Amino acid sequence: MRKPFVAGNWKMNTDSHTSVELVKSIASGSLEVTGHSVDVAVIPPFVYLQVVAGALSSSSIAVGAQDIYYERQGAFTGEISASMLKDIGCTYALCGHSERRHIIGETDELINKKVAAAVSGGVLPILCVGELIEERQADKTTEVVSRQVKSCLAGLSAAKVSAVTLAYEPVWAIGTGLTATPQQAQEVHTLIRDLLGQMYEESLAEEIRILYGGSVKPNSVTDLMSRQDVDGLLVGGASLNADDFIAIIRAAV
Ligand code: PGA
Repeated sequence: MRKPFVAGNWKMNTDSHTSVELVKSIASGSLEVTGHSVDVAVIPPFVYLQVVAGALSSSSIAVGAQDIYYERQGAFTGEISASMLKDIGCTYALCGHSERRHIIGETDELINKKVAAAVSGGVLPILCVGELIEERQADKTTEVVSRQVKSCLAGLSAAKVSAVTLAYEPVWAIGTGLTATPQQAQEVHTLIRDLLGQMYEESLAEEIRILYGGSVKPNSVTDLMSRQDVDGLLVGGASLNADDFIAIIRAAV
């Protein structure tokens, strides 16, 4: 049984005060379910990771980073390593979020290095994949998502892959108010799980959690989570509102 996992990606939002207020509200509003019935993580901007981790010290909500760099240390101005993230109590790191792929220009090869470095450094990667609207319209969803999964996990052993969470986020659904239908999500999640089964073993593929992301709102959760291969949610906009995020966490149980 895969335990549901809900992660809130705050992107470039909040400040030192509102980040703490937000996370305190989320923690108190989801107290009875977090940890045992559902895993929850919040993913604030780098500069607020430490203050948010501090505010969560007696909560089972985990903290994640929005990105990670693959080198361990040295002359890499502006970058943050796995050991730095671990040092401040960060459990997860997003790798290959579509905004980093399409705005910053990250490639599958770079994301592959980040995923590998995260696992080696003891940070659990959440690897994001997903097609553009033109790719879906050209019937290329399978091709694009398969290429992303294979390239971004290239060279990772089964033991390392077991630390990875996948997130399917169709780019056309992110921040647009358009959500993939539960059927569309299930189709791509099955594709990813089958692929993991071919690349590794079916038993391993069955254990790996695959989240859906893209305009998730409280009222879309039950339907999405009812699909066999949808194991959780990566939430952007709605994770900035405590009531909405709490409703999403509760509906995902
Ligand atoms: P959204 O973002 O929920 O605002 O669409 C999801 C994401 O980018 O992870």
